[in-house]
Amino acid sequence: MRSLGSPVLVLGIESSCDETSAAVVADGREILSNLVASQDEIHRPYGGVVPELASRQHLTHIGPVVAGALKEANVSLQDLSAIAVTQGPGLIGSLLVGLSFAKSIAYARRIPLVAVDHLEGHIRAVYLESPGPIPHPAVSLVVSGGHTSLFLMEREEKYHLLGKTRDDAAGEAYDKVAKRLGLGYPGGPILDRLARLGDADAFRFGVARFTDGSADFSFSGLKSAVLRAIVEKKVHPLARGENPESRHDLLDLAAGFQRAVVTALVERTEQAALEQKARAILVSGGVAANRELRATFEARARALGIPVMFPSIKLSTDNAAMIAAAGYLKVLRKEFSGIDLNADVELRLGEEGVRRSHRHI
Ligand code: KG4
Ligand code: ZN
Repeated sequence: MRSLGSPVLVLGIESSCDETSAAVVADGREILSNLVASQDEIHRPYGGVVPELASRQHLTHIGPVVAGALKEANVSLQDLSAIAVTQGPGLIGSLLVGLSFAKSIAYARRIPLVAVDHLEGHIRAVYLESPGPIPHPAVSLVVSGGHTSLFLMEREEKYHLLGKTRDDAAGEAYDKVAKRLGLGYPGGPILDRLARLGDADAFRFGVARFTDGSADFSFSGLKSAVLRAIVEKKVHPLARGENPESRHDLLDLAAGFQRAVVTALVERTEQAALEQKARAILVSGGVAANRELRATFEARARALGIPVMFPSIKLSTDNAAMIAAAGYLKVLRKEFSGIDLNADVELRLGEEGVRRSHRHI
């Protein structure tokens, strides 16, 4: 570890899904490098992540990505205070590549190792970029390809799960609808762009609401309703070489689908913010890159007088800077892991002692 007075340099490593990423962050705030090797091209023909292909790609990318991140930051291994690595949740084969790599460098070079929950990483991206302190209590929505979870944060680093999706994650619904429409992968950015050109009133979709008082989400019903509309209204998938912008039925369908997703996410979060008397709303994860989601949250938050905060677009989707930033606080507390650290696909942030609101305890 470096001497007192020099910055705390954390190398972050993230490989939980289909991005191989490494970053160097100084003092939990300053991003010296943040390299992301995307596998979108590999998974595109399948319209979703193929786990076996993902772990193989991670194996190819991990070495060069870590070396590149250190080089860009102008930092060598002996300068590092710690290595922070994503422990879970995620795809087991993918997680193991980053974790084994991190463990081997940590062991060989005697660098402290810290384990990070991927969802906490997404949330810490907001803190990393926030110009000032974030007021608490806050409600924090993590919305990505694998997760749609809402947390109450009474203070920094204290997470209490309020609700999560009972079936598909919001990003997963984007990816599946885009696949069915022949639009490619990942579906979120494509549908986001097309939805802006469509008329959301041409296709109106609802999203399931739970009457048991829970703050859970559900998107599989919406996905089925969209797929049904595709058949009933004879919306053909995009043909090869066809320009999607000339297809008004596709644009309108994208707009109607997106309106339903955004409404569900914003309404549920807003309701939780009011119930919990939140002083801030945090929104992170890949779907937080969505422009309509950002604009709607901002408009509603203004009306409620509660600030809403997002990471930049680059830090919304999977990256290692958020993992390094989450690891930094654990480094300060010396919460180091041993060489026996294992991946855990079932890590559940904020679920210890959860009192689910629909259960009467
Ligand atoms: O956080 P992330 O990179 O990976 C996971 O942890 O899952 O999120 C990826 C997800 C994908 O489902 C992708 O379609 C979605 O985020 N996404 C978006 C947008 N950009 C990425 N969804 C809606 N609008 C976007 N602009
Ligand atoms: Zn993620």
